[in-house]
Amino acid sequence: MRDLDEFTVTDEALAQMAGTANPRLKEILDAAVRHLHAFAREVNLTPQEWLQGIQFLTAVGQACTPIRQEFILLSDVLGLSAVVNALHDKKARELGTQSSLLGPFYREGAPEMKLGEQIVREPTAEEIVIYGRITDNDGKPVPNATIQVWQTSERGGYDLQERKGDDMDMRGNFRSAADGTYYFRTVRPLGYSIPMDGPVGGLVKTQGRHGMRPSHIHCLVGADGYRELVTALYFGDDPHIDSDTVFGVSESLVVQAKPDPGCPIPGLRAVHYDFRLAKAAPGENGRVGADPTRLAKEIA
Ligand code: BEZ
Ligand code: FE
Repeated sequence: MRDLDEFTVTDEALAQMAGTANPRLKEILDAAVRHLHAFAREVNLTPQEWLQGIQFLTAVGQACTPIRQEFILLSDVLGLSAVVNALHDKKARELGTQSSLLGPFYREGAPEMKLGEQIVREPTAEEIVIYGRITDNDGKPVPNATIQVWQTSERGGYDLQERKGDDMDMRGNFRSAADGTYYFRTVRPLGYSIPMDGPVGGLVKTQGRHGMRPSHIHCLVGADGYRELVTALYFGDDPHIDSDTVFGVSESLVVQAKPDPGCPIPGLRAVHYDFRLAKAAPGENGRVGADPTRLAKEIA
């Protein structure tokens, strides 16, 4: 048997894994092992620290429930989800609207609404309008596209936090008109804290970070033949716009609600935003993110 040291054990592990039949899985696992070993060598990881890491990951797994995915939250606060989104955008055949995080509050089966409807059941703040067009990359309208939107209330809570069970609010599903236009009414959502009561929140506190996300509206836009677009619009005057805990903000997604003569509902302040869908490559159906409730069902 060979005497293995902290370097040759890497070669030995890669050699033992060389028979992995799936080439993509082999590529991913080989790189993971190389980088994990290099990480341990770089920080000179002690057995005590290794155990602390294992305990932390165990707690992350134990915090997961059918409606809470603590591992996705961990990926988010470490910036890994944002890296995956950026890579996904780069791989597109065409440049569409930039992606952003789906987050843990997306739900399938939100109410189907008519263009112009208010997505907040009992609004207590100023109504605003979000409107624009869904187009392809050349600016050609995409009719009948699905536009799913969800957000926090003016108090900063999602329906899952402010209401009981599956009582949906502050979310709606729309379809673009024949000329690609869409519009709906809402209130300006308040920025909010990521869930801080679990191990990931503990980590964020240990790092001296605030845990806040700037005010935003999530949007999931889809149409036949196009890449599904998972993104969000961020309000530029939020105090945390430049320090989002999960790195979801891009300059091209920053908006402002303002008086707008082009607003389809006159008299209300509006956000005008046009979404551009990139054509899907053959066989491509990858969504960036997942409905956490569905994820739990798939694992069960
Ligand atoms: C959200 O925007 O809903 C979100 C995204 C990542 C972590 C927590 C919340
Ligand atoms: Fe959100």
